[in-house]
Amino acid sequence: MARMRTKRNIPARMEKCHERWFDAPMLNKGKWREACGFPEDIPVWLEIGCGKGKFCTEMALRHPEVLYIAMERDASVTLAAIEKAHELEIPNLFFIRGDAGIIENYFAENEVNRIFLNFSDPWTRQNKPKRRLTYRDFLNKYKVMMREGGAIEFKTDNDDLFDFSLNEFEETGFTLEDVTRDLHNSEWNEENIRTEFEQKFADQGITIKRVVAKM
Ligand SMILES: C[S@@+](CC[C@H](N)C(=O)[O-])C[C@H]1O[C@@H](n2cnc3c(N)ncnc32)[C@H](O)[C@@H]1O
Repeated sequence: MARMRTKRNIPARMEKCHERWFDAPMLNKGKWREACGFPEDIPVWLEIGCGKGKFCTEMALRHPEVLYIAMERDASVTLAAIEKAHELEIPNLFFIRGDAGIIENYFAENEVNRIFLNFSDPWTRQNKPKRRLTYRDFLNKYKVMMREGGAIEFKTDNDDLFDFSLNEFEETGFTLEDVTRDLHNSEWNEENIRTEFEQKFADQGITIKRVVAKM
């Protein structure tokens, strides 16, 4: 019942937070900074599959010096994230409700400085590695969008997906840095922001894997 009520209300609730998202985000391709009212030299950070928005809201608050764009394909999940950002009145956080499968339609060459992939769907049981957001076809698209010196930060609970991703990063010419298979017991734990899924996995005793892949 509650779930249906939430879904029915999506358009009205989205409308209330209209300053956080765009009707036609593809029109911002190549001009995200201008579209969001920021100067041309501000770094753009992009999170793909932001879920309910804990990570992106905390990151945008911690980094007012960047323009943070969060992408999510599920409508009700995107709404939860947008409402969080709206409530907190975060000026540097904007959302795209869309599918990373066509990410090249949203971002132009050299437009993004950093990409965050947190607990991306592993597609292990379905055995569909090409759908993974760290599959080489995705990485090659990200490379085109990213500025020199850019990096992708990738976190997962899944060992298979992590090993696969390390290989895909290397095969597509990224350099691996800050690799850990136990982020929460590493030197990076203090600065780490836990996502919703990350907390859930940590509560189950699952160690978190993380890599920073540099261009
Ligand atoms: C396992 S959840 C993780 C959510 C969040 N990042 C976290 O760590 O709590 C994966 C999220 O990625 C989104 N997602 C999966 N594939 C996507 C795609 N191709 N484009 C945009 N979002 C996607 C899903 O809808 C889901 O919300």
